[in-house]
Amino acid sequence: MAVSIKESVALVTGANRGIGRAFVDELLARGARKVYAGARRPESLATLVDEYGDRVVPLRLDVTSAAEVDQAAALAGDVDVLVNNAGVATDATLIHSDALDGLRHELEVNVLGLLRVTQAFTPALRRNGPGAIVNLASVASFANFFMFPTYSASKAAVHSLTQALRVVFAGDDIVVTAVYPGPVDTDMAEAIPFEKTPPDTIARMVLDGVEAGEETVLPDPMSKEMGGAYYSDPRGLEDQVAQMAAEFSRQAAN
Ligand SMILES: NC(=O)c1ccc[n+]([C@@H]2O[C@H](COP(=O)([O-])OP(=O)(O)OC[C@H]3O[C@@H](n4cnc5c(N)ncnc54)[C@H](OP(=O)(O)O)[C@@H]3O)[C@@H](O)[C@H]2O)c1
Repeated sequence: MAVSIKESVALVTGANRGIGRAFVDELLARGARKVYAGARRPESLATLVDEYGDRVVPLRLDVTSAAEVDQAAALAGDVDVLVNNAGVATDATLIHSDALDGLRHELEVNVLGLLRVTQAFTPALRRNGPGAIVNLASVASFANFFMFPTYSASKAAVHSLTQALRVVFAGDDIVVTAVYPGPVDTDMAEAIPFEKTPPDTIARMVLDGVEAGEETVLPDPMSKEMGGAYYSDPRGLEDQVAQMAAEFSRQAAN
């Protein structure tokens, strides 16, 4: 089902920087009527408001706070496009105790936060459709990147929940799209020594996909390669990523 961004009303979580900020720019460039920009600290949205005026509505929205999510849903009842972008990545090492804290934090934000926001906005999305839900997964959803083992587990959960959400919304005019980027040039990927895609390219590819009704978006070369391998040879992909991780560890040690 194709979804037009023109005249849509969108909500982007984690809109103050990185890929989220790029989504706000791209949604407005395509003619969205209004974008609710969610951020833990609304003051971090000042430059967006300066640039776009009342086409951007700042929302205090920590996705781990049920109270803030409920308040956002009450304020933004006209949303028809939801972009679940907010995310965190820790560098917890699996065999050390920090992995428990790292995984807990990543699950709270990346998984429970995504689900909490989606639940809260389901009545509005159903009322206002046709529309879209966009979930930021990762190439780390397809195979566990040993450098970010707990993050990878959280993004595998995003992939799995997105499949379930497609079933939930199958009878509605709502396309549920998962995005699987490789490294993107944002704060999150600052320390990653791979080629990175600019965040505005990701936003453009994703909204092209949404407008074409695509449920899976592989927005960059690594994403296309790993996505292809995942669907044709998942065990082979696991070995390939393990070799990449070993090479990464060797380089980091030198
Ligand atoms: N960068 C990559 O290489 C890459 C690759 C694949 C997928 N992704 C995914 O793309 C999404 C955006 O990542 P990014 O690269 O733009 O990361 P980023 O530059 O680190 O930005 C993360 C955003 O999430 C927000 N956030 C963190 N915790 C939050 C919470 N509890 N409630 C609401 N917002 C919260 C941050 O807000 P504050 O400013 O308040 O911290 C910030 O706006 C994430 O889901 C990430 O996993 C990124």
